[in-house]
Amino acid sequence: MTDVIRRALAEIAHAFRAERRDDALATAAALQSAPFQGQANPLAAADDAAIRALLFASGHPTAVALLAAHDRMPWGVNPVARQVSADHMELYAVCDLMGPDSPIRSAHLRAGLYYQRPNCRYALHSHAAAETYVIIAGSALWTAGDARKLIGPGDSVHHSTYLPHACQTGPEGVVALWRWSGDIGVESYRLHDGQDAFAA
Ligand SMILES: [Fe+2]
Repeated sequence: MTDVIRRALAEIAHAFRAERRDDALATAAALQSAPFQGQANPLAAADDAAIRALLFASGHPTAVALLAAHDRMPWGVNPVARQVSADHMELYAVCDLMGPDSPIRSAHLRAGLYYQRPNCRYALHSHAAAETYVIIAGSALWTAGDARKLIGPGDSVHHSTYLPHACQTGPEGVVALWRWSGDIGVESYRLHDGQDAFAA
């Protein structure tokens, strides 16, 4: 494992440990225990430049570490791609790090990175897995159940199983860590058509 990859995984693990939930601690441990050399980064040029700029502008230590490792982070594979339309895929890009079919293998946990493009609305959706996002760069207006707040670097949000959630970006977009635990099958993922979390 190269130093930049090791440092990036250590910072991701550190951010998850702050959550203190047992599943978060297990995710942190698994991220740091598996051999992972990184993989070629297949992102489109526009996303690649935007993510680099967001990570550069953020003072969050995980953003600093991820910028150094960016060329070897496997962005571009979305675990729920089969559950959503091509239009939906225009909203965001995912770096899938850990899961049953991911570079770091785990049968029970998923984790990775998330980039939502500027001025995009990811409508209400839900899934069986419990989920945590940790924002590391940019900002977003986040809806989780009945709560809605603007969150930025260092903030986290937790979704219990099947809690509907949504995310609206402004002009800068957002980069976050994410993890799933519990029932991590992607089959339960669904968009709540016709329910707009950001309607006035
Ligand atoms: Fe989610």
